[in-house]
Amino acid sequence: MTLEELKQYARQRYIPVMLDDTRRLLFQTVQRCAPRRILEIGTAIGYSGIVMLSASPQAVLNTVELNETSAALARSNFEEWGMSQRVNIFVGDAREIVPQLTGSYDFIFLDGPKGQYEHFFPYLCDLLCSGGTLVCDNVLYKGLVEHLPDKRHKHITVARNMRAFLDELMSGDRFDTQLHRIGDGVTVSVKKY
Ligand SMILES: C[S@@+](CC[C@H](N)C(=O)[O-])C[C@H]1O[C@@H](n2cnc3c(N)ncnc32)[C@H](O)[C@@H]1O
Repeated sequence: MTLEELKQYARQRYIPVMLDDTRRLLFQTVQRCAPRRILEIGTAIGYSGIVMLSASPQAVLNTVELNETSAALARSNFEEWGMSQRVNIFVGDAREIVPQLTGSYDFIFLDGPKGQYEHFFPYLCDLLCSGGTLVCDNVLYKGLVEHLPDKRHKHITVARNMRAFLDELMSGDRFDTQLHRIGDGVTVSVKKY
C-alpha cells in the first residue's frame, strides 16, 4: 500500500489521520532534526509514524494508542513498510502510559486526545532532551481555540483545555515555539533547556 492509499483507507473508515499540509511539515521537520528516538501520542493506524520513520531512517519510534483495533492495523502497516523492527506500540491509555515512560527522546509528536495536551505536557517536557523538538497537532482545534465558543458548545471543554495548553507552551521560557496556521494548527517547539 502506498502512503496515499493508507490515507484513503483511513479516511474511508473515518479514522482521523493528519492533513496533507501537516504531513508535509512533519516530514520536513523530522528530516531536518534527524532524531534517533521519537515518541508519538496517538498512533491511529501508523500513517504519521510511517511518515516520521521515512523522514529519519536511523530513528526508532515508541508510539501510544488507546484503540486496540487501530493499534493492530498500525502493527501490520509498519510490518508492510518494513519498519516493525524500529517501532514499539504501547496499547492503552496515554494518560496512564506516558507518566510511566522513562528515557530520553529527541523528537515528540503529540497527536492524541485533544483535551489532554495540558495533562501530558509536564511529562513530555521531562522526556524530551534539551534541543529536542515537540510537534503538536490540532492546537487551533477547528478555529475554536482563538474564538472560544459559547459555553453550551459541545467542544467548549476541549477548546478551553487546548487554549490553556497553547498559552503555556507559547508563553513559557523553556521552548521556542512556532505556530503554523496550516491544517488544524500545528506547533513546532524546540526545548531550550
Ligand atoms: C488524530 S488521531 C492520530 C492520527 C495519527 N497520528 C496520524 O496522523 O496518522 C488520534 C489518536 O489518538 C488516539 N487516542 C485517543 N485518546 C487516547 C488516549 N487516551 N490514549 C492513547 N491514544 C488515544 C485515538 O484512538 C486516535 O487513534
